[in-house]
Amino acid sequence: MPVDEKETSAAAVEFENVSFAFDDHVILRDVSFTIQTGTMTVILGESGVGKSVLLKLILGLLCPDSGIIRVNGERVDNMREQDLIRVRGGIGMVFQELALFDSLTVAENVGYRLSEEMRWPEDKVRSRVEDVLGFIGLGEFSDRKPSELSGGQRRRVAIGRAVAPKPNLILFDDPTTGLDPIIAATVNDEIVKLRDLEQVTALFVTQQIRDAFYIARHHAERKGTEIEISTAPDQDCTGVDFMLLRDATIHFRGSASELMASEDDYLREFLYRTLPPW
Ligand SMILES: Nc1ncnc2c1ncn2[C@@H]1O[C@H](COP(=O)(O)OP(=O)(O)OP(=O)(O)O)[C@@H](O)[C@H]1O
Ligand SMILES: [Mg+2]
Repeated sequence: MPVDEKETSAAAVEFENVSFAFDDHVILRDVSFTIQTGTMTVILGESGVGKSVLLKLILGLLCPDSGIIRVNGERVDNMREQDLIRVRGGIGMVFQELALFDSLTVAENVGYRLSEEMRWPEDKVRSRVEDVLGFIGLGEFSDRKPSELSGGQRRRVAIGRAVAPKPNLILFDDPTTGLDPIIAATVNDEIVKLRDLEQVTALFVTQQIRDAFYIARHHAERKGTEIEISTAPDQDCTGVDFMLLRDATIHFRGSASELMASEDDYLREFLYRTLPPW
């Protein structure tokens, strides 16, 4: 039916009965979900549950044992490497281990994909990098090397590099782990800005529930030339969707308030072990 076709094409990511195992270690068992374009989904779950594997399946870096995976309407589960490279070009990825180039400056890191992979002309790269550095608030650090930055600033450079080619889908793998809460908030602010001002589709993998709720509870607005981040009137109005993986399946999916209100024993333990008493 044409309506179904339309719904399919509006999905940024679709998993249909996907199973994946490393030998006999099952990571995903018959998992299905859809991520609509323009939405933000927080993916939670204990260490080792398969969050990074899920992102690698989306990027086509791993191949499912069965099931179908679509990214922006195209099947990636059986795609040839040269087509995968094209699809990956439309995806921004902030890796768990940042993978910044230590010998390049901040500006060169942010512009890397534009000049090296996409072969943009130099002046176009320069102007886009300037815009991105302004957006992530690191304009004055453009000539520094990553080793001369704080941990939070380095994460923001990694975010800048991922967003520079204007991808319509961004995957964040635990971008705030190891950061103190104040610095983590500056990284979270970048993610809030991308959601509210750039309308990117984002999957945000995190072990930091505090950061997941920060993102759900804040919104960004342009006020003249400034960007203001403020507390949202309620935690659901930002539209962030939560998905929690457990035992190779999606144990929970819903809004922040549904997550907080859940009576499920596992969820309650998961939340109350990790959330401060706010
Ligand atoms: N290349 C691999 N070969 C075999 N097992 C692997 C491989 N990569 C990951 N695993 C296993 O798959 C499981 C899921 O790994 P994954 O990296 O997705 O966990 P995660 O949820 O991202 O954890 P964390 O929060 O610690 O990053 C883990 O038990 C891990 O040991
Ligand atoms: Mg991981």
